[in-house]
Amino acid sequence: MKITVVGAGAVGATTADNIARKELCEELVLLDIKEGIAEGKALDMTQTAALLGFDTRITGSTNDYSKTKGSDVVVITSGLPRKPGMTREELIGTNANIVKNVANSVLEHSPDAILVIVSNPMDTMTYLTLQATGLPKNRIIGMGGALDSARFKCYLSLALGCSPNDLNAIVIGGHGDTTMIPLIRYATWNSVPVTNFLSAEQQKQIVADTMVGGATLTKLIGTSAWYAPGAAGAALVESVVRDEKRLFSCCVSLNGEYGQKDICLGVPVVLGKNGWEKIVDYKLNEEEQTLFGKSADAVRNMNNVLKTL
Ligand SMILES: NC(=O)c1ccc[n+]([C@@H]2O[C@H](COP(=O)([O-])OP(=O)(O)OC[C@H]3O[C@@H](n4cnc5c(N)ncnc54)[C@H](O)[C@@H]3O)[C@@H](O)[C@H]2O)c1
Repeated sequence: MKITVVGAGAVGATTADNIARKELCEELVLLDIKEGIAEGKALDMTQTAALLGFDTRITGSTNDYSKTKGSDVVVITSGLPRKPGMTREELIGTNANIVKNVANSVLEHSPDAILVIVSNPMDTMTYLTLQATGLPKNRIIGMGGALDSARFKCYLSLALGCSPNDLNAIVIGGHGDTTMIPLIRYATWNSVPVTNFLSAEQQKQIVADTMVGGATLTKLIGTSAWYAPGAAGAALVESVVRDEKRLFSCCVSLNGEYGQKDICLGVPVVLGKNGWEKIVDYKLNEEEQTLFGKSADAVRNMNNVLKTL
């Protein structure tokens, strides 16, 4: 098994670190356009192997895609992160070009790879990758919902005073401050609806905190977060390479599911060796379906910006 992570910045390096610690592959390649950064971080991570006890071979490359040849999975994190006060959508101009070129360069050397798209605005970058590469839709997975769902569980666990591991909770829709939809009605604490334990006010606050989860961190840190994004990216990769069939909220191409077409948006999917293998229908109620429609409208507007670039 060989995995490549493109972009050796904060999120890419953390994704790679998690992949190595979990020994998801024999060979892991980090690639970046900035001279030396991928080689340096790969060597630094390699020096943790004797301490952490993994055997994954990690190498770095400055923009030489021949080193990525034969990758089974490629995670794309290259591009600008947002700064405090910015929305993810403001990154589109720069990141669209980067993601398109990176995806095509990757496929020249790994035509069978499954791509995990992380760069923002992620829903539009996933759609762009699908359009630009013509790959079968199941091989393009946008990472956003897995992170947003982990943040949702974090805020739920803080309010309930419980372990996040005992929670089941999912965020669908777009990966944007105003487009994501934390499905609190379906969230459970070891099978019991969390709504049994939380006041309406608390529920509202948890949903609001989840939606601006990324912006809260960007404000605190001064740039976009990386620990949870890196862990979320690696979790998706793990389900694919180990064929685990885990269910995650991922941004995938919709063809009528959840009432939408010609768009990539976050929905519950099963991840396995073929990429995303199945979309699961959660039977949204009217209010949730309306929110999903609004989310799709906003993402579609962003996708339309691609035509002007
Ligand atoms: N989908 C999500 O849930 C999620 C979460 C966090 C961050 N992000 C996004 O991930 C991206 C990376 O964030 P970060 O914090 O790691 O940023 P960063 O600036 O730390 O790293 C980005 C890296 O990409 C590299 N890069 C730029 N152009 C490249 C190219 N053409 N080829 C190869 N490498 C290139 C840069 O040199 C840099 O090292 C951003 O777009 C950010 O908004 C997404």
